Amino acid sequence: MKEEQRGDQGLEAEYQLLPYFDPCKVPRYYQMKERMEQYTWEEVITYVNIGLDHDFYTNSTPVYDPDCLTVLVNKYHPLPKNYVPKDLEQIHPDFNADELLLRREAAKALEEMGRAAREEGILLQAISAFRSYEYQEEVYLRYKTPDTSMEEYQQERDKVSARPGYSEHQTGLAVDINDLEETFALTPAGIWLAANSHYFGYILRYPKGKEAVTGYSYEPWHFRYIGRECAEAVHASGLTFDEYAMRYLQC
Ligand code: DAL
Ligand code: ZN
Repeated sequence: MKEEQRGDQGLEAEYQLLPYFDPCKVPRYYQMKERMEQYTWEEVITYVNIGLDHDFYTNSTPVYDPDCLTVLVNKYHPLPKNYVPKDLEQIHPDFNADELLLRREAAKALEEMGRAAREEGILLQAISAFRSYEYQEEVYLRYKTPDTSMEEYQQERDKVSARPGYSEHQTGLAVDINDLEETFALTPAGIWLAANSHYFGYILRYPKGKEAVTGYSYEPWHFRYIGRECAEAVHASGLTFDEYAMRYLQC
């Protein structure tokens, strides 16, 4: 069916005025809307712009500016293999389990957040922060055994771990806090972080119920620094960072 024949199920004019509407993607918007009728046009436009009408790890385009504090790294946007941030610093030892590194601004914000939490009797410890491409490769392949094919392995591992080059940890702006269990969400630290991290420039990057958008299982321990103003806006929007960045950010 031609687009102009679609009548009231068409891409109404108001959606074409959205700042993130991309006329080049109109055929893809229609294809997704046809498959996923339950999505609003706004969602369809956002999801197609993210790339979700293609399988994860296909149609990738490298990030434009890896140093940008709001850079979006996901299964469609990898970092250069040799990218290492220039301003990595050790996180303050009070909040650092293992001489871990973050970019300067993220490390400072983590320290402030750790101090604020401590005043309320809550302890925060970074347990993983900057990871190089090579280290992420090690992490991703950690459980690979010779009797599992790479394809089978990827199917399960992709839900919880990024392939090398595709991890936010390589930006030096992502940090895992306290423990890597889903039950962390129910601990005082998990509850406190979910309610307060945005005041310090951090967002919960892989929320529950958004697995189809982020491509990852719920990670209540993984926080991403994007600066206070942006973190507050993302938090208030109720969107994932993938959705928010695709709609409103440039890098
Ligand atoms: N666990 C997160 C998604 C990573 O590997 O970067
Ligand atoms: Zn993480």
